[in-house]
Amino acid sequence: MVVGGGARDEGVGEIVLSEQEIAARVAELGAELTLDYAGRNPLLVCVLKGAYSFLTDLARAIDLPVAVDFIAVESYGSSTRTSGVVRLVKDLDQDIAGRNVILVEDIIDSGLTLRYLRRNLMARSPESLEVAALLARDATDTAKLGVRYVGFRVPNDFLVGYGLDVDERYRNLRFLAKYVEPGTGDTPTL
Ligand code: IMP
Ligand code: MG
Repeated sequence: MVVGGGARDEGVGEIVLSEQEIAARVAELGAELTLDYAGRNPLLVCVLKGAYSFLTDLARAIDLPVAVDFIAVESYGSSTRTSGVVRLVKDLDQDIAGRNVILVEDIIDSGLTLRYLRRNLMARSPESLEVAALLARDATDTAKLGVRYVGFRVPNDFLVGYGLDVDERYRNLRFLAKYVEPGTGDTPTL
């Protein structure tokens, strides 16, 4: 099986979501967004870096004239633990006032990143702001966080692949897998 980028090594554990499962669900989300945004020209805002694979596939699954832009934040630094601080690393290129914005996220964990981004973007007066997340933790209250579109629910294991990294590695895997810490052989949980 081609796993992508030759990046498969001892750090990559059990596959949680296969390439086929991800593709099928992204197609469904794209169809849903196509209906919900019919007649509009939504702006997909990709939260770098983790959401880049999802953004690419989702944008192509939406049968509407969409625009894309990128914003980068950092909350985890180089570890598998949150620092509890969110920092804007790269801002959007365009003005979102009056736009129908869809914030595209890789995974909603504590919701810290999302709360920061929502506050930041709402201050710029978009016409609407919705969130599409590929993944959300089982325990995360996505309704309370106002996340309308969720691809999959996942447990607290640290995951890699399809854009998600550990120290910038494994983003190019075509699937999502549990990360296995070298040495210990354990999968960190959050
Ligand atoms: P939150 O701010 O706690 O919701 O964390 C969200 C961010 O943490 C995501 O956008 C990811 O960048 C990162 N993150 C959370 N869980 C994982 C994981 O399992 N693997 C890789 N990155 C993760
Ligand atoms: Mg990350």
